[in-house]
Amino acid sequence: MAVRLGFVGTGGIANRHLSCAQRHDDMEIVATCDVVLERAQEAADKYGGEAFEDFEKMYDDVEPDAIVICTPPFAHGDIEEEAARRGIHFFVEKPVAISMEMAGRVLDAVREHDVITQVGYMFRLSPPIVKAQKMLSDRAIAMVQAHYYMPGLPNKSWWTKMDMGGGQLVEQATHMLDLGRFLAGDVKSVIGKTSRVRDWEPPAGYEPGPGLVEYAEGFEIPDTTALILEYESGSMGTLSCSLVPQVAWDNGFKVVADGALLTIDGPNASWKTDDGDVEEAAPDNWADLVLVEFVNAVMGEGEASIPYEEGVKSLAISLAGYESVDRGCEPVEIAEILPEGI
Ligand SMILES: NC(=O)c1ccc[n+]([C@@H]2O[C@H](COP(=O)([O-])OP(=O)(O)OC[C@H]3O[C@@H](n4cnc5c(N)ncnc54)[C@H](O)[C@@H]3O)[C@@H](O)[C@H]2O)c1
Repeated sequence: MAVRLGFVGTGGIANRHLSCAQRHDDMEIVATCDVVLERAQEAADKYGGEAFEDFEKMYDDVEPDAIVICTPPFAHGDIEEEAARRGIHFFVEKPVAISMEMAGRVLDAVREHDVITQVGYMFRLSPPIVKAQKMLSDRAIAMVQAHYYMPGLPNKSWWTKMDMGGGQLVEQATHMLDLGRFLAGDVKSVIGKTSRVRDWEPPAGYEPGPGLVEYAEGFEIPDTTALILEYESGSMGTLSCSLVPQVAWDNGFKVVADGALLTIDGPNASWKTDDGDVEEAAPDNWADLVLVEFVNAVMGEGEASIPYEEGVKSLAISLAGYESVDRGCEPVEIAEILPEGI
């Protein structure tokens, strides 16, 4: 039996999940939905299913078992709430929302209707990182040093707007903040500082090419951010992120623990302990595992290990970082940001 999947938001990342679904016999693509109908139709033509521009009509007409939500950070809330109300399970791409008000509303609906959820923090399920987390689990962690450097700006108008994309900390470096929680537990407080080190206004005659771009009109987010994190355990952490154009993607960690030094480079991990050195490379399908695990959970086989609440906790760290910037680098407690009851 296959899980009948609907897809909401069929832009860039949806293609990865649609392609994964197409390759798995236990996933059936029954519908695609996008506010730009042509995009939904394009996805339906390529991967199958019926195209919609309205998610409620899709829920009414197709009654999917589960949906895969790949909308930008600002376009969440009603899609998830209405799915939960109807008992439709959902996978949602990170970040789960642009604000804690939006995330709290959805969390209430998820709890009330008890649907299965999974957030697309795919690095958590990369096999080398799962092994690294086990290696750390009985050691005291001292330092969690994370970075996310991208070689340019995604060519999407919402990415450069604070109230639509949420800035690099919310939109993208959230991967590292979430992985820091996976490796070292919950965060207690955050100090943040941001900067704009570059002029992003396009020079005369600039034509953006495909992929990442070097300039954008109306750029209004920080391009360089640093956080200091205090974990509940007493571990300390830092995050550095920048999208100033340079030559390569680079995201990962150094973790200093009792008797271990861990390096995470994208989905790969290596560590040194008294038992020797270990190097682990991720399999080709590592980025699919987060959706595969969700679909298995919907079929009653195992659990989805990154439920919605996890996404809310990771979002809170990014929002606390920006709140600290607004308060002139004062530390902000995560408990101040999270909705009650978490
Ligand atoms: N896990 C990962 O590695 C990863 C990678 C890339 C993107 N993402 C996340 O996925 C999300 C989408 O990113 P993207 O790059 O695919 O963006 P995108 O702009 O390419 O695609 C988003 C699509 O959503 C559609 N949309 C917007 N509002 C909608 C609504 N209310 N209902 C239906 N469709 C709507 C847009 O028309 C667009 O086609 C972002 O939150 C991003 O952070 C995750």
